Amino acid sequence: MEDSAAALSFKFIMKIVHTIPELREYLSAFKQPAFVPTMGNLHEGHLALIRQAKPLGDVTVASIFVNRLQFLPHEDFDTYPRTRALDCEKLEGVGCDVVFAPSEQELYPEPQAFKVQPPAELADILEGYFRPGFFSGVCTVVLKLLSIVQPRVVVLGKKDYQQQMVVRRMVQQFSLPIEIVGGETTRAATGLALSSRNGYLSESERAEAVQLSLTLKTMATALKSGNTDIAALQAQAMQTLTARGWQPDYLVVRRRSDLQTPAAEDVLTDAASNALVVLGAAKIGNTRLIDNLEV
Ligand code: PAF
Repeated sequence: MEDSAAALSFKFIMKIVHTIPELREYLSAFKQPAFVPTMGNLHEGHLALIRQAKPLGDVTVASIFVNRLQFLPHEDFDTYPRTRALDCEKLEGVGCDVVFAPSEQELYPEPQAFKVQPPAELADILEGYFRPGFFSGVCTVVLKLLSIVQPRVVVLGKKDYQQQMVVRRMVQQFSLPIEIVGGETTRAATGLALSSRNGYLSESERAEAVQLSLTLKTMATALKSGNTDIAALQAQAMQTLTARGWQPDYLVVRRRSDLQTPAAEDVLTDAASNALVVLGAAKIGNTRLIDNLEV
C-alpha cells in the first residue's frame, strides 16, 4: 500500500495549459523547448514525433489547435474530430511535458488580419493548388505558435512533405533561431500512412486506402530502375487509382529540393542520387488522403 502510494506520488504529471501567459510562465524555467504542433486527434504518428522531439530539448511541448485559417469553406473544420482528453492521455503516455491547447479566442482574439504569404512557387503548387490559401493559414498559425513557444527545435512529420518544406523556408527567411527536424511517416502494417483523416474511412475504404501508397511505391520503383518517362509514370498512376474508384488530385514526381518537376535529362541521375520524391493526393469516397515517398 505504502509502495503504491509512493509510486503514485512520483507519477509523471503532464501540464496542460490553455493561455499564452500560462505557457510562457511554465516555459520560463527552460532554455531549449522541443515543440510538436498538432491539430489533435492524435495517432501513433504524432506520438512518434513526440518521442523524437524528447531528446532534442530540455522540455517537450505539444500544441493542440484546430486552425480555422487553413481550412477552405467547404472543408471539414467544423467536423474535424476534437478529442482533447484522449489526446492528452496519449501525450502524457509518451512523456510530453506540457500541452498548449488554446481556445480560438486565445489564439485569435480578433480576426487575424496579418497573415504570412508564402511564395507561390512553393505554396501554390500541389496541396496549395488544390487547397488555395492552405499554406498561408498553416504559416500564419505556425509563426504565431513559434513566437509563443520560442522553441529551439520543431519536429514536423514528413507525411505533410510540402508543409514541412514551406515551414522550413519560412523559418529560414524570417531568420528564426529554430531547427526544423523531419519525422518519418508512421505506417500501418499494410503500408497505409497514419493520418487523423483515416478515421473518416469506412471499413472497405480503409482496406482500399493502402493503394495510394502502393501506387507511389510503383512509381518510385520504376524511377529507381531507370524509367525516366515521368509523364507516362504519372499518367499511369492516375489511371490506376481512377480505375479503382479514386478521384486523384495529383500523383507526381518532383525534386526533393524545391518540389519542382525534374528536367527530363536529369531524372536518371536525380533518381540515382536520392534527389526525388513522389507525392500523391486522392479522394476515396469523401475522404481526401495524401502520401509521399522519397526516391
Ligand atoms: O500538420 C498539422 O497538424 C497542422 O497543419 C499544423 C502544423 C499543426 C498547423 O495547424
